[in-house]
Amino acid sequence: ATRVLVVDPSAPDPRIIAEAAAVIESGGLVAFPTETVYGLGANALDERAVTRIFRAKGRPATDPIIAHIADLRQLDMLARDIPPVARVLAQRFWPGPLTLVVWRRPIVPANLSAGRATVAVRMPAHPVALALIAAAGVPIAAPSANRFSRPSPTTAVHVLDDLAGCIDLVLDGGPTLVGIESSVVDLTTDPPRLLRPGGVTVAALRELLPELIVEPRYLSVGDEAAPAPGMLLRHYAPDAPLIVVAGEREAALARIRSEVLMALDAGKQVGMLAFDEDVAELADLPVRIVALGSAANPGQVAQRLFAALREIERIGVDLILVRDPGREGLRLAVRDRLVRAAEGRVINAE
Ligand code: TXA
Ligand code: MG
Repeated sequence: ATRVLVVDPSAPDPRIIAEAAAVIESGGLVAFPTETVYGLGANALDERAVTRIFRAKGRPATDPIIAHIADLRQLDMLARDIPPVARVLAQRFWPGPLTLVVWRRPIVPANLSAGRATVAVRMPAHPVALALIAAAGVPIAAPSANRFSRPSPTTAVHVLDDLAGCIDLVLDGGPTLVGIESSVVDLTTDPPRLLRPGGVTVAALRELLPELIVEPRYLSVGDEAAPAPGMLLRHYAPDAPLIVVAGEREAALARIRSEVLMALDAGKQVGMLAFDEDVAELADLPVRIVALGSAANPGQVAQRLFAALREIERIGVDLILVRDPGREGLRLAVRDRLVRAAEGRVINAE
């Protein structure tokens, strides 16, 4: 059975941390809060413990895992030929929601990196995560603590919903603050490349990495071709199909309305993930609405996003609609998660 220990997120009890660290040292699995989402942790230097992570999540062995560190010496322990800009980025953004992909040393088990020559490293900005890594005395490998293709967990309950019985311990430190995962930057290519938009914005990264390559599918505006199907694996996908409706607000709301009416006509139950500003305009429609927070406050939307996806899934509708959040700042990461959940289904209302 999976044990749950409640822990103060800002001042974790050292005895609880020591218990969790003992589980890590013995090769077990501990889910713990970070500032982004809950991670499913194991000793990053123990190949067998890392194998357990893949099994518990049902994660394909081809998808590499981030090593979480609590001090910069652990970066040097895991990586070689670290470019100077890595230290500049670390200085600015660590601890925080930024993951750096660098060349790995032989000490890193091959399965952590899914056989690649690189390793992804992050220093999380959460007292529980940092205390756990320090107490364990080793870097901690941790993907998000959800089952493969489920929304990432932002509370201990989400972790238990997916992984109860499959892991040893959950440290319950309450809901996470950022709510979406870290930005992942590959520093082994020239110029560096953004592999996943996340908690650190592109604008903030470009202050230090002006050359940073960001895939056009993240940035282009206007009508966009749906990305190649293989590029958008089922990830964060709710059971019901989700559609992102893009375009200027009035046009998008009108299109959402017509999509809803068509679906209702076909006898479908419809759900919406709606911004607070849009709720009043859609209130006359017989649909289940889960609020995402204010469209003007992307931090709030990010914080609520994964819980909202889980909730709309639990309600059990046949179709889910959501208005495109846009791409400015944190909205880019929110949009990325929504488009993945939609498996690329974006329609342009204009
Ligand atoms: O905020 C986060 O990053 C959370 C918390 C727990 O730290 N972790 C997280 O892990 O989101 P995960 O496994 O769900 O996502 C890690 C991402 C994946 O897209 C993976 O492919 C990429 O990082 N990644 C990991 N190692 C990599 C590597 N060596 N090269 C390229 N991409 C890598
Ligand atoms: Mg994940």
